[in-house]
Amino acid sequence: MRPAMIVHGGAGSPRAKDEIPGYLREIENAVKVGVEALRSGSSLEAVQAAVEYMEDTEFFNAGQGSSLTSDGRLQLDAAVMVGRGLKGGAVGACECTYHATRLARAVMETTNHLLIVGDDCRRVAVEAELKIEKLHPAKAVLDRFEREVRAGEKRRAAARPSHDTVGAVAVDVSGVPAAAVSTGGLWMKKPGRVGDSAVIGAGIYADEAAGAACATGIGEEIIRNALSWEACRLMKRGGAMAAARRAIEQVSRRSGRKTAGVITVDLGGGVGFAHNTPVMGRGWLDNTRERIVVELR
Ligand code: GLY
Repeated sequence: MRPAMIVHGGAGSPRAKDEIPGYLREIENAVKVGVEALRSGSSLEAVQAAVEYMEDTEFFNAGQGSSLTSDGRLQLDAAVMVGRGLKGGAVGACECTYHATRLARAVMETTNHLLIVGDDCRRVAVEAELKIEKLHPAKAVLDRFEREVRAGEKRRAAARPSHDTVGAVAVDVSGVPAAAVSTGGLWMKKPGRVGDSAVIGAGIYADEAAGAACATGIGEEIIRNALSWEACRLMKRGGAMAAARRAIEQVSRRSGRKTAGVITVDLGGGVGFAHNTPVMGRGWLDNTRERIVVELR
């Protein structure tokens, strides 16, 4: 089986010109970290490594760079899923670690449940012996928040599209697909709001009879459309690219444009991506030329 991997840095509006080189470099680094893990480990190790890399930079709306709630807190959502056995784990509105993906994996591996939310995420983290972290917004995020609150822009800011979410999908040499996703959620979301990244079938899905998918965009629309599940269903009939395009066409028809993006990987080692937002950053291993491709369009 040919291993394959694709990573995204979020679908949304275009970035400021001076941010683009650093943003693309970090996506490339995330793919490198993931591909390295994929050479010696499973697809789960690969997607977790890539997403954790992105959680640790401040370039993305995840981990250290996460968006704030309307009352100025970080509440993170994340999930992981493995296609063999349909195993998964997720956390919602988590405030005890930047490494929400690691905690989602702990939900999968140490509990009988799929989703843990709010304050009780801390209990799972302690039981799994993960480090509890005090969350502070990144400087750029705090500056934006203070600027907008000062300018009384709260209402407008909440409706403004933001860069969103990080995710990865991979298939390993054993043909096992996996997906991981992590986000701070929508900019100035209501405290307690949980989005698609904590919902298996919406933010991610992996099925050993199809492949894996990971979504980005407006969580409410992604949940309504069960986007990642639908992309995997479509992959049973076509390749990763065709499935991604069809799944996003469906979202555009039902929910409108500027709502979502998705990345996909199929069991033949093909990767796919599609979005109806102005841009979506992505990077993948081009298996035919053995090189990493990174794009922001
Ligand atoms: N797609 C991330 C969110 O809506 O929370």
